Amino acid sequence: MRQYLLAFFICLTCSAFAQTPIDVDKEFAFAAQQYERMLKTHPDTTKFPQSTNPDGSIRDMKSDWWCSGFFGGSLWYIFERTKAPSWKEAANKWSMAVAKEQYNTGTHDLGFMLYCPFGNGYRLTKNNAYKPIMITGAKSLATRFDPKVGLIKSWNKFQSYTYPVIIDNMMNLEFLFWAAKESGNKQLRDIAITHADNTLKNHFRPDYSSFHVICYNPDGTVAAKKTAQGAADGSAWARGQAWGLYGYTVMYRETKDKKYLDQARHIADFYLNHPNLPADKIPYWDFNAPNIPNEERDASAGAIAASALLELATYGGPSAKTYYQSAVNMLQSLASPAYKANLGENNNFILKHSVGNKPGKSEIDTPLIYADYYFLEALLRYDALRKKPAFKS
Ligand code: GLY
Repeated sequence: MRQYLLAFFICLTCSAFAQTPIDVDKEFAFAAQQYERMLKTHPDTTKFPQSTNPDGSIRDMKSDWWCSGFFGGSLWYIFERTKAPSWKEAANKWSMAVAKEQYNTGTHDLGFMLYCPFGNGYRLTKNNAYKPIMITGAKSLATRFDPKVGLIKSWNKFQSYTYPVIIDNMMNLEFLFWAAKESGNKQLRDIAITHADNTLKNHFRPDYSSFHVICYNPDGTVAAKKTAQGAADGSAWARGQAWGLYGYTVMYRETKDKKYLDQARHIADFYLNHPNLPADKIPYWDFNAPNIPNEERDASAGAIAASALLELATYGGPSAKTYYQSAVNMLQSLASPAYKANLGENNNFILKHSVGNKPGKSEIDTPLIYADYYFLEALLRYDALRKKPAFKS
């Protein structure tokens, strides 16, 4: 076993070094310069950078928008890399700007909104002021869990359905695990596990692609399988596949239950082996978009998938090397001029070419704040793995 592990590790390390390495210092230096500009154009902490409007102007959103935590979270990643106090100050300021959302029981997105800024802030600073904000937020999130259905409700209404659950919601479970550990409230952990189990049962197709929206009846039976942001009910919306991949990788980290690892691997294999995944490994906004190759790419899905695959690779198995190399290829693509902005352009976002909601005619081929966030996260994960690989079998 030891021998196998060593051989596997050497093989993985060699192949990783055989590629052009990504210059993480250079990427973060650029991110810092770009976000210094972003901070200057955002003196008002009620206006959160989100994307670009069709007329080219910056699109800002309020703190109750699901993306409000990503700017603060990205600032924490820049602080993590640079260690400069000015980034800590900015990250704290933009995290605190979201704090009031801890009482928001009208959204399932509190993990994104609170854990991305405060979770990173607490991990890096152990600032005790952040803890109660997150614990209150996790309890607010838990109010959206109906035990009869066994899932956290995403939206209050979707078409004629009153209990829609989207695959994206897998991303909010990490927050519940953290809050359960920190507060001793085991119920939060149980909710996360029940949600993940029911999602596993109902959201996936035999090929391990996922539906975007499952609409539930009050007794927990499935009323309909739909899409909101994908090309069709039966299509594989790219970001949804990335959310599922990331979500089940986290589920395995938190529980060590092999069924979640298997699920994450199946999703990864679907994604990476899909005939419509382009050579640069950045997907079209939907794997089944009707006019491929004349469809927009979604850099946000690429960044989320890269970050997830880097963690999944650390759990070993026969495909770990493929997952690692694919993630590196994704990061190389995103760091290339094809996706990365020039300094001072792109409304000071780092990455270009994402798609928020094409069917909703919103944020098509634009920067998106969460593409930047997961790109920075993936760069840090990549760097950590290069310095201290942690591959297991
Ligand atoms: N959670 C919404 C999205 O991924 O667009």
